[in-house]
Amino acid sequence: MEIKREVILAPMAGYTHSAFRRLCRELGTDRVYSELINATGLIYGREERELLYFTEEERPIHLQLYGRNPEEISEAAVKVVKKYKPNAIDINFGCSVKKVLKAKAAGYLLQFPREMGRIVEETVRALKPYGTPVTAKIRLGFYEDNLEEIAEELLKAGVSAIALHPRTAKQGFSGKADWNRVKDLKRLAGNIPVIGSGDVRSWREVDEKFEETGCNGVMIGRAAVSNPWIFKEYKEKKSYTASISERVDFILKELFLMWEFFEREKACKVIKAQISQIFKGIKGKAKINNRIMRSKTCKELIENLEEVRRGNTT
Ligand SMILES: Cc1cc2nc3c(=O)[nH]c(=O)nc-3n(C[C@H](O)[C@H](O)[C@H](O)COP(=O)(O)O)c2cc1C
Repeated sequence: MEIKREVILAPMAGYTHSAFRRLCRELGTDRVYSELINATGLIYGREERELLYFTEEERPIHLQLYGRNPEEISEAAVKVVKKYKPNAIDINFGCSVKKVLKAKAAGYLLQFPREMGRIVEETVRALKPYGTPVTAKIRLGFYEDNLEEIAEELLKAGVSAIALHPRTAKQGFSGKADWNRVKDLKRLAGNIPVIGSGDVRSWREVDEKFEETGCNGVMIGRAAVSNPWIFKEYKEKKSYTASISERVDFILKELFLMWEFFEREKACKVIKAQISQIFKGIKGKAKINNRIMRSKTCKELIENLEEVRRGNTT
């Protein structure tokens, strides 16, 4: 897989569905990932269509799976590849929310590098006939940093790219992402592309990360939720502050795109999480959020967004 100085929208559960990804592609992200999708559900017929859905203009896209063992993940990967034909299957080895840990999946597996290797190896083997590469998104370790061991297993197993969020699972989002470890991983990985992910808040930091670490891709997660224009800023190499009206337009466009694959009222609930962040830095943000969060139906939400555009936030 070739990844050359790409700026990439990080996968984020609840945010990076097809609509948001398409708008970020228009603004300049080079590559997108789906949020994590349960492999066990997939093979037992509980297919999460809203999460698997994507359109051609999003490519290259990695559909991200998580699960407990090589058998389930490789079977789910084949099912997804046959039906949706993504550019890559990514395996999530980072998520450590309670529900996922209880299922002994995703971030839980950071404690067992050998098992991570077996999962990648089996999935690579299963996807060989389809020519679909397998990538992995990892953290440094679970309790402790054991990146070297994890990297060795994944590379041996035939992984095509590794994205690293350089914190341990136990750290969650506390402390700082240690980009020195992205540099270390790049050294270990040789020709296999390495993508760094964590705490990139402004477009200027993207080139800094490329220079400092030699990595092939830089992911932007939380900063893109409140400022999707960060991709435009990076591409144009200049700062950009979207007006209130542009932010309202972005949300409305996103909402209309969401209706292609989400039930209408559900889309309005899901998008509220992003709306609460997209007016960041705007004077009167608290009042704006108050008004938006009061909306009980899609109709009210759209009316309230139009009021915000007109400057009416009371
Ligand atoms: C709300 C939220 C949801 C996330 N969901 C996923 C996910 O589904 N899969 C994944 O690999 N990482 C997920 N992450 C981790 C991000 O991809 C990223 O690695 C992390 O947020 C650090 O980058 P940032 O500081 O740019 O946000 C999530 C992060 C957040 C904040």
